[in-house]
Amino acid sequence: MFQHVEFFAGDPILSLNEAFLADPRPEKVNLSIGIYADDQARLPALDAVHQAELRLAAANTAKPYLPSEGASNFRGAVQALLFGASHEVVTSRRAATVQSVGSSGGLKLGAEFIKRWFPGSGVWVSNPTWDPHRAMFQSAGIEVREYPYFENGGGVCFDAMLSALDALPAHSVVLLHACCHNPTGADLTRDQWITLIDLLKARQLIPYLDLAYQGFAEGIEEDAFAVRALAAAGLSFLVANSFSKSMGLYGERCGALTVVCPDAEQAERVLGQLKATARRTYSSPPIHGGQIVAMILTDPKLRGPWEKDLERMRTRIQAMRAQLHAALVRRHPAGKFGYLLTQRGMFSYTGLSAVQVDQLRDEHAIYLVRSGRICIAGLNTSNVEIVAQAIAEKLEHAR
Ligand code: LMR
Repeated sequence: MFQHVEFFAGDPILSLNEAFLADPRPEKVNLSIGIYADDQARLPALDAVHQAELRLAAANTAKPYLPSEGASNFRGAVQALLFGASHEVVTSRRAATVQSVGSSGGLKLGAEFIKRWFPGSGVWVSNPTWDPHRAMFQSAGIEVREYPYFENGGGVCFDAMLSALDALPAHSVVLLHACCHNPTGADLTRDQWITLIDLLKARQLIPYLDLAYQGFAEGIEEDAFAVRALAAAGLSFLVANSFSKSMGLYGERCGALTVVCPDAEQAERVLGQLKATARRTYSSPPIHGGQIVAMILTDPKLRGPWEKDLERMRTRIQAMRAQLHAALVRRHPAGKFGYLLTQRGMFSYTGLSAVQVDQLRDEHAIYLVRSGRICIAGLNTSNVEIVAQAIAEKLEHAR
């Protein structure tokens, strides 16, 4: 019956994580998947999440179906987080927000929306981008192309990016990483965002922001810069955001898709279509994680500790960037490792080849994605020197 079904080669990130978990070597180091680990190499459970769960358990609340668009307290809290509670976009009710199954689910709802209501539009993604982006849009029947974004050793190639986008037909969709670009860690500066937004507006392009790492670059408010700058420029756009990393709620699948519209009436139409897509796909989102998020965002007693924990995660990653940089420079003074200090968020591109990455895994039990992407959040004070030594050896051999 199923002989004709093709084998799935596996997802490049998730399969690697599974291989890591199955690796019996005790010294193994996971620098593959974008999951934050603490200095003991453990995924921390945030106290604010624990407190919210205790409250939910104590209230012994029933678990009804949510509406297809999700819980209204969650959706309101997401809008306040993205724009600020008293932002005009929020008060004039011109943003349509649906609670989604992770921000991946939100990205996919947006892809289906684009396919249905902008059928001639292609989606342009950065080269490189997070692996699943392409497949998410292609599987919705949308043509996906790339714009230049990053050159190894050179960082963001902003001029090339602008020239490519300047040539796109009106209503093309441009997928942008709002902060902590995955996989390179190389972000646009604020001035570059302003220049880019002028171009997006002039060319009537549709920005689609992926905001998976809010709070990991500079801070919760600062990392919403791109969202707020697009809103301030009067553009209509989509933004998918996630609580996987910022609240450690990976497996609860908490995210949202927000579409900023010109007015409340259009937002109502858009929300209706997003609800319809959710209904025919998974009916309605899960209730538990979204209620944790809503509670943390709206209760100062939980929000304060959450913000502190997020800051701790951010500063630990920055400290690991500095330690890896120092350890590499010590071993390989001719190398150029400054990128580790300027790039932001969980990831950086090491410039290591797929063969070198395979060798790191086989010889040292150090796991990186084969593109050479390293997850800095998997480094800690016990493994950073070992990792630096192994990388430096690879770079020496390559000389
Ligand atoms: C990553 O890029 O490693 C994370 O966003 C996890 C994932 O789902 O790929």
